[in-house]
Amino acid sequence: MSNYTSYRNLPELAGICSMAEAMKPGLSVEQCVTRLKRYHYTFKRLHQIFTARITAEPVYELKSGFSLHAHLCAEHVSALRKRVGEMREPPLGLEEVPDPNLEIFFDEILGAPTTEDLVAGLYEKALPALRAALERHIADTNPLTDYPSVRLCRFALMEVDDMIKFGAQAAASLVDPKCRERIGSWLGLLEDCLAAAGGLTGTQTPSGNKIDRRYSAKPYEYDRLPRRDERFPDPYNMGVNAEVFLYDEKFPPQPKTLMMFYKRLREIDVPEMMSSIITETSNKPWDYYRDMTRQLWDEARHAMMGEVGFVNLGIDWRKVMINFTWSLALNTQLKPIERHAVLYFIEQGLMPRNGKRFEWEVGRASHNPLSALFQDYDWADEVLHAKIGRDWYLKEFDDPRTAVQYGDKCWSRILMGWAKWREEGLTQHRNWWPDVYRDACRHWGIEPDPAVLAYSTSYENVRADLKAISASA
Ligand SMILES: [Fe+2]
Ligand SMILES: [Fe+2]
Repeated sequence: MSNYTSYRNLPELAGICSMAEAMKPGLSVEQCVTRLKRYHYTFKRLHQIFTARITAEPVYELKSGFSLHAHLCAEHVSALRKRVGEMREPPLGLEEVPDPNLEIFFDEILGAPTTEDLVAGLYEKALPALRAALERHIADTNPLTDYPSVRLCRFALMEVDDMIKFGAQAAASLVDPKCRERIGSWLGLLEDCLAAAGGLTGTQTPSGNKIDRRYSAKPYEYDRLPRRDERFPDPYNMGVNAEVFLYDEKFPPQPKTLMMFYKRLREIDVPEMMSSIITETSNKPWDYYRDMTRQLWDEARHAMMGEVGFVNLGIDWRKVMINFTWSLALNTQLKPIERHAVLYFIEQGLMPRNGKRFEWEVGRASHNPLSALFQDYDWADEVLHAKIGRDWYLKEFDDPRTAVQYGDKCWSRILMGWAKWREEGLTQHRNWWPDVYRDACRHWGIEPDPAVLAYSTSYENVRADLKAISASA
């Protein structure tokens, strides 16, 4: 058939590959499924690690990066589950561990004691091994017969490459030569795990070596205390009530954009809190984890919108006291379902007129195009979050009213130690507003409005839904 040609030299085989490539033996369905399950397991464990390590990781850029990477991994888990389901009848065995040495590999990274170990383990060992496995799949399989898997691998590779790129830059800044020396033998242990598993694909001859656990010798314990880096110098500060200012009609829209940027940036506490719900809730259908992680990522994105808003105005956001009191309180005082209840209660309260629509209108009226754009998408994302709440929280209750009341009740139960934190010297609840407003006025080239400058309502007595404490969504 060497003289075989397509009609008028049109691309043959839908442009997928050459005739010769389509004749290669490739992988059987059984071999293909076996490999796909190993990539699935890898993405699932990566999702778990990225999610679980958001809360206690102090560095804001890593919290954001982990939030995105958890979301990306969750999406690829979903795609691979679907593909395995197309090729095999249930039970699909997707919850099984494909190789005990792979389990040790990911347990070790999950239990990494420092940020440096974690970053090196994730981005220098796990993700590059996954990249090699996906590339290997494309090289080994028949591109025509296994086209749907090839497509998944190609899409996954794009995002795996993005993650590796992020990680390489993070490691270059965080892992210094001395640290490298310290973690070298542990990174070697990770390689030993992969060798004992026959590589991530499982196609190499297993080394036969027995692996001794190091960081995972003791079972992993999720750390639910939020931590922040030094750019968050006053994390208990609840001295400026953004919502009271925002909903007060006597204040003009322009300074309100600052309060909205503050509210957005403060939302980094939502991934810190949702990480705890996702990590501490087991045995849900996979779609639960995928949807919740999508929301977690959206909330990290909202925080970054706030960051961009401040940078755009030339304001040093370190002067804005971005607290963690909400994630701290929810993570330490409530059970996972109760935290979800509070989240749902807050989010459904954002749907009527005085919620996200109002914020968008303020953004538009302020003539700050970025504020309007951010609030436009923030609102759209919130509609999705309300749906995620209906799909996964509301279903736990017989009627929606009981579900909302339960959320209100759980939120009211939370003790915000406003006075206690001050007595203990954790914060003075300093009113940072006048400094930040003055900086913005300088940027705008206007004189501060004395009424706006004098604003000094804290969260001592008023909750962010104007009932009485601070909320994020
Ligand atoms: Fe949000
Ligand atoms: Fe939200």
